[in-house]
Amino acid sequence: MNFYEIACNRQSCRKYDAQKPVEQEKLTAILESARLSPSACNGQPYHLTVCRGETARLVAKATMGMGMNKFAADAPVLLVISEKPYVKSAALGAKVKGNDYRSIDIGIVAAYITAEATAQGLGSCILGWFDNDDICKACHLDGAVRLVITLGYAKDEPLRNKKRKAMDELVTEL
Ligand SMILES: Cc1cc2nc3c(=O)[nH]c(=O)nc-3n(C[C@H](O)[C@H](O)[C@H](O)COP(=O)(O)O)c2cc1C
Repeated sequence: MNFYEIACNRQSCRKYDAQKPVEQEKLTAILESARLSPSACNGQPYHLTVCRGETARLVAKATMGMGMNKFAADAPVLLVISEKPYVKSAALGAKVKGNDYRSIDIGIVAAYITAEATAQGLGSCILGWFDNDDICKACHLDGAVRLVITLGYAKDEPLRNKKRKAMDELVTEL
């Protein structure tokens, strides 16, 4: 798949085959692409925690507050992206320029992860709705949790039409 094909095929997967595990080599490919993700001053101010089994169950539960994200319970793997400190130069740049580079870096690594998951034939969904403290406890983390990504094989989920802003609303060419 070229990148445009990956972009067309990636969609938030909200129905997983709980009986079909994610092969280690596919997970390794996803983590390797994540490792190559760019970040401000190359600081990579985040940590990835791979959750399976009981830890995955606890993390999934932590994403289900107020009836949200019930599908997470069936995902065989959950990746937790938590914060790590900035490197000095990125911390200085963020302060001087008033820009939240760490959030940007975390968004980029999440995009890499979901793109590689698609290339590997796996479904994924980025989750921003979760209980931070419950996940920190389940994963023994001290940095704030920023995103959770479910991974697994999609079950009966056809490719949906993408709903996006029109190009002229999204883009200005000067
Ligand atoms: C930062 C972020 C947080 C999100 N949080 C959730 C979530 O908690 N639950 C969920 O079902 N989808 C969540 N999504 C998925 C979006 O709803 C989805 O990407 C968007 O509607 C576009 O649909 P698509 O991913 O199928 O193309 C999140 C996506 C992002 C980027």
